[in-house]
Amino acid sequence: MSFLSVAIKAATAAGEVIRPELRKILSYEEKGENDFVTEVDLRAEEKIKSVILSSFPDHEILSEESGATGDSKYRWIVDPLDGTKNFIHGFPYIAVSIALQIGGNLHLGVILDVASNNLYWAEAGQGAFKNGERISVSKTNRLSRAMIATGFPFRKKKFLDLYLKMFREVFLNVSAVRRVGAAALDLAYVAEGIFDGFFEFFLAPWDIAAGIVIIREAGGITFSIGDELSGNIIAANPYIFENLKNLVFKFRDELENF
Ligand code: IPD
Ligand code: CA
Ligand code: CA
Repeated sequence: MSFLSVAIKAATAAGEVIRPELRKILSYEEKGENDFVTEVDLRAEEKIKSVILSSFPDHEILSEESGATGDSKYRWIVDPLDGTKNFIHGFPYIAVSIALQIGGNLHLGVILDVASNNLYWAEAGQGAFKNGERISVSKTNRLSRAMIATGFPFRKKKFLDLYLKMFREVFLNVSAVRRVGAAALDLAYVAEGIFDGFFEFFLAPWDIAAGIVIIREAGGITFSIGDELSGNIIAANPYIFENLKNLVFKFRDELENF
């Protein structure tokens, strides 16, 4: 089986674990400050790992709930359930996100929108797809018309004042801002052209790895401060990217020294 078909099989299997539990109010554990996990996150993660390892037993997997296992030039990066807070509250804006790095380069990304069962995927150099149809980023070429998604720094509340300065710049210059609560799905929506751009800080590699590949292959631009998977990310269509980056980067020094 190809890397892509294994990634799709794993995401689909995780979706089948999660979907029956959608729109329920669920019990959960607090694994860190404002950081939650349900038994469904754990079951979905086990499912994904077993699908990957049954085809590629010697590959490395970095996954949110169980950390890193193995040591290989093939590294899978997995968020079994992105949007756990939404999920706990029965709000079905959640996703499964799976990426593969080969020799340190992002090679493929798969994101499943669990509620709609829409499946997004891309492989480097092969274009981006949703349910088999080619997708591309939006053509909105003025920030004043753009709808931008973001995420609040709810785990780093010390960052709030700086974030609010950036938010203010963006908010005053765009048409709409959305904070929906699942970064991987936000990125898939940028790739598909629903959102014109996205910015968030202090994300984890598993929140963004698949989305980066899919956006790039859909003709968008992604930029991270520091390492590509550092979690400080700005993404947009190529027409507004530079302007969005300049707004967020008015505070670049403060950001880099944070
Ligand atoms: C979270 C979601 C959220 C983002 C957080 C992430 P999780 O992922 O993507 O939108 O703001 O920073 O950690 O914990 O639900 O997998
Ligand atoms: Ca996540
Ligand atoms: Ca998660």
